[in-house]
Amino acid sequence: MINMRIVTTIAQAQAQPNAKCRVLVPTMGALHKAHGEMVRVAREHAGHDGEVALSIFVNPLQFEPGSDYERYPRPEKTDEEFCEKAGVDLLFRPSVAEMYGDDRSVFIEESSLSNTLEGKSRPGHFRGVCTVVAKLFNILSADAALFGEKDFQQLAIIRRMVRDLNFKTSIIAVPTVRDDDGLACSSRNQYLNADEREQATVLHKALFAAANAGKTSARDVVDLARKVIGEAPLARIDYVEVVDAETFQSVDPVRANSLLALAVVFGKTRLIDNIRLG
Ligand code: PAJ
Repeated sequence: MINMRIVTTIAQAQAQPNAKCRVLVPTMGALHKAHGEMVRVAREHAGHDGEVALSIFVNPLQFEPGSDYERYPRPEKTDEEFCEKAGVDLLFRPSVAEMYGDDRSVFIEESSLSNTLEGKSRPGHFRGVCTVVAKLFNILSADAALFGEKDFQQLAIIRRMVRDLNFKTSIIAVPTVRDDDGLACSSRNQYLNADEREQATVLHKALFAAANAGKTSARDVVDLARKVIGEAPLARIDYVEVVDAETFQSVDPVRANSLLALAVVFGKTRLIDNIRLG
């Protein structure tokens, strides 16, 4: 087995020999089953001559003030072993100082799809995501990059950025990966205590129940999802909405390309999930 290369500086990353096809999996670490699945899909796309790069960077720019930036898990050694086992060729793990100079003054802001759902609840979040992802695409010369459908709005915004700014990186979507009990895998799940973890399974139950009830009124779909979530006493709803899966604007009635998306807080942990409707 060829050893995984680990680089921590931009200069080192840019000095890497050019791979025939480099497929990037951008992450914030605390790697789990879904990241493993992304590496597997990346490997398939990279093919025999290509390589899989994975970045781990807890991006301060995408955490709004008062959120979990400080306590976000950073299990360096475990993540490194995870990458090695998963077959990553190049691990890029920069520091904050390496990525952002004190006098930084250029940011990337998507100004339409970012106005609802996560963008509305977390002002500045997608500006931070777009800025770091653009930097990672450039630093690592990514021919392709993978993004998960669990963060459906993020995926759409990155596609829009690539389209509008003519990046050469192709974007590949990976379907949501779930634990055996249905909860979408997330690095933040490890914040949940036992009761919260058990009750968090209402999220996928709510999504699947609402999506499969055959309702066409978006309001009825949302009401049903809210009712199921209400069965978990620890759940506090941030939003439950039906939107168009391309524009992220509210729609009613449900159409072929609608998305039911939710954000729910359990204790100190904010979880998101979504399902396609129609
Ligand atoms: P992170 O939360 O670490 O997720 C990295 C990638 O894994 C994202 O594309 C995310 O959508 C995907 N992912 C996470 N959980 C998933 C699941 N259960 N099923 C499918 N895909 C899943 O998202 C980020 O980091 C950051 O915003 C980043 C893009 C790295 C920019 O900082």
